[in-house]
Amino acid sequence: MIKIGDITLDGNVLLAPMSGVTDLPFRQIVKNFGSPLLISEMIASRAMILQTRESLKKCQKDSSQYPMSVQLAGCEPSVMAEAARLNEELGADIIDINFGCPVKKVVNGFAGSALMKDEKLATQIMEAVVKAVKIPVTMKMRLGWNSENLNAPSLAKKAQDVGIKMLTVHGRTRCQMYNGSANWHAIANVKKAVSIPVIANGDIKSTQDAKNALEYSGADGVMIGRACYGKPWLISQINAELRNQNAIPTPAIYDQKHIVLNHFNKMIEHYGAQVGISLAKKHIGWYSSGLKGSAEFRAKINTLGTYGEGQQNTYKFDEAVEEIKSRIVDFYDSQI
Ligand SMILES: Cc1cc2nc3c(=O)[nH]c(=O)nc-3n(C[C@H](O)[C@H](O)[C@H](O)COP(=O)(O)O)c2cc1C
Repeated sequence: MIKIGDITLDGNVLLAPMSGVTDLPFRQIVKNFGSPLLISEMIASRAMILQTRESLKKCQKDSSQYPMSVQLAGCEPSVMAEAARLNEELGADIIDINFGCPVKKVVNGFAGSALMKDEKLATQIMEAVVKAVKIPVTMKMRLGWNSENLNAPSLAKKAQDVGIKMLTVHGRTRCQMYNGSANWHAIANVKKAVSIPVIANGDIKSTQDAKNALEYSGADGVMIGRACYGKPWLISQINAELRNQNAIPTPAIYDQKHIVLNHFNKMIEHYGAQVGISLAKKHIGWYSSGLKGSAEFRAKINTLGTYGEGQQNTYKFDEAVEEIKSRIVDFYDSQI
């Protein structure tokens, strides 16, 4: 049983935060199947305190989203603290600090995994955030900056000392980006260094992977990201299998049709038609991957919702929304 402060998680297989993927609509769909924890996409703390439209959308939750963690990135302790306080006020149950993001835009602003190179500043950030809020604070990191600097265990100890309640470790270094494979054995050094819950992450795609990651790392739980593309049911399936509960079958094609339509409708509701269509395309692609005629289906969907020259003011996005829905229905009906 994983406890994050006073919050007990109902399972130890968690959905990883993914920018551009784990937005409110996707988290709602995942939560329908069951998910012990929901984490927002990473939000830049500066944008958060300015309450930009984008950051407010990213931290949005509804009553189904419990427990919901908001993930913050940034390199200024006072700004991170203020952003955390604001999210506590907005209803977040947990704050997660991102020390794992390898993306240049984030690293060059000395946030994300770059902070693993500066343990002093990283510790100041964690301390400031923990002091700023009453809700529990967690942290997500990599093994270190590169293979010569695997300082995750040392940073983990500092995190625990300042009051961080759970750690997630992606078993790669910053310099590996997403190359090679995640090293679940190396996560064991973090687990040995602290007594707070440790979550192993990286390349987990199946129940067997989850079992191996837990065994090699000794971690308390696992976190799964990319394997959930187009499979919002995966977290609940692996959770059930690890707990020896009745297997949760992959939804039948007929049910998948309704899941995709529901997800698409939620995206249109959340973002509006123009942005919603554009962001939904990748999810529709992932859902349909491997099904009969999926390449043609994707090619057709990709032409919808984009206007040609001179059409900016006349393009009817609402009609494109209806066209996409009817294409989804036809595609899934043709599978049966
Ligand atoms: C598209 C994408 C976006 C991501 N965005 C975030 C993010 O916002 N915050 C974060 O901590 N990690 C982010 N990650 C990293 C994942 O949470 C996870 O650590 C990584 O994908 C490894 O797990 P996996 O092999 O199960 O995907 C992202 C990964 C991907 C692929």
